[in-house]
Amino acid sequence: DLDVFTYDPGYTSTGSCKSAITYIDGDEGVLLHRGYAIADLAENCEFLDVAYLILKGELPNVEQKAKFENDITHHSMLNEQISFFYRGFRRDSHPMAVMCGVVGAMAAFYHDSTDINDPHQRMIASYRLIAKMPTVVGWAYKYSQGQPFMYPQNKLSYSENFLRMMFATPCEEYVPNPILTRAMDRILILHADHEQNASTSTVRLAGSSGANPFACIAAGIASLWGPAHGGANEAVLTMLHEIGSVDRIPEFIKKAKDKDDPFRLMGFGHRVYKNYDPRAKIMAQTCHEVLDELGVKDEPLLKLAMELERIALEDEYFVQRKLFPNVDFYSGIIFRAMGIPTTVFTCLFALARTVGWIAQWNEMLTDADQKIGRPRQLYVGAGPRPYVPLDKRG
Ligand code: SDX
Repeated sequence: DLDVFTYDPGYTSTGSCKSAITYIDGDEGVLLHRGYAIADLAENCEFLDVAYLILKGELPNVEQKAKFENDITHHSMLNEQISFFYRGFRRDSHPMAVMCGVVGAMAAFYHDSTDINDPHQRMIASYRLIAKMPTVVGWAYKYSQGQPFMYPQNKLSYSENFLRMMFATPCEEYVPNPILTRAMDRILILHADHEQNASTSTVRLAGSSGANPFACIAAGIASLWGPAHGGANEAVLTMLHEIGSVDRIPEFIKKAKDKDDPFRLMGFGHRVYKNYDPRAKIMAQTCHEVLDELGVKDEPLLKLAMELERIALEDEYFVQRKLFPNVDFYSGIIFRAMGIPTTVFTCLFALARTVGWIAQWNEMLTDADQKIGRPRQLYVGAGPRPYVPLDKRG
């Protein structure tokens, strides 16, 4: 029997909430989506099966799976006008900035057809967001490379389409690699939802005012970008490059423990997991599979990461504080091996987390108790005092 937080409607006004989507036990390292263990889902499902589960509450049957995949596939194109938004950015703009801007701009295209009080229109907006994110990210990458946009192809699966929009060009087709497609599906599953993390809470708070779902998801993207949150996967690679070699690891472990040094070991620690992040175990296994498939098993960066993990997990400071590798520790290494540039890593996290964000947004709007979010504060400012005219101020 899950020890469920005693729900008090008064809490909804302060940003806390009740939810039936994801359950985490940080001490036991448990992560369930609608009651299913993350390891079972990662092992047995495609990403869209888990997207359906998180969004609708049950795994799809054969007919539901076919219809959902067909609906998502046929919403994957972006309005051609949106392609012009990309051209307003410099080519070297960070893809997360581009993604934030483009998704926010989608509100201008779909605002009028999204009555958030109509469950059917909410679901259409949800499908549109899930379907279009691979195109949004693929186009952000292509734009940064100075290459033409590649359009989604209806004959491909969700992950195949994404990888093709990233790596195909008009001059050379992308040939799907089943191992990499499977790995991408599994990585998207591992990032799909994670209860009330910072970016999901941002989406809920924005949505609690009745804002347009595209604008709410843009707010979630902004929150995810931070290096303490989804930006950590990019920060892990930056850190590994900075460490450079195994013999410099002790120097950085020392920095990470120094209270006066802002440096933290990126990819380690978690707000909730005080045991091993169950996603990290699956990510580590996927990492080895992908590097094996690509023949880069002896990738120096992976070896450095493995040695860093070994040393950190034997160090009293990290063990005492239960600072284990989290989901971001391995994902960056896999993405890099796949040829995805570091600046796009967090875009992939946002692509996957769109499922969780939009499912939680829908759940919030169906909760009759839900009021506009209003987090509380502890006032520590000046007490009441008389006005001081300008000529009397010190
Ligand atoms: C994600 O919430 C979610 O669910 C997020 C996420 C999701 O799926 O949505 O799981 C995704 O954001 C994963 C986390 C990715 N971030 C990083 O890898 C960045 C590095 N990690 C740290 O910034 C940190 O661990 C946090 C932000 C993740 C968690 O911070 P907490 O819970 O506030 O931890 P804390 O500050 O209470 O740490 C306790 C102690 C402190 O030392 P003391 O004051 O006890 O002496 O551990 C230390 C911290 O200084 N510490 C670290 C550390 N993380 C915590 N020391 C060195 N390196 C670290 N990474």
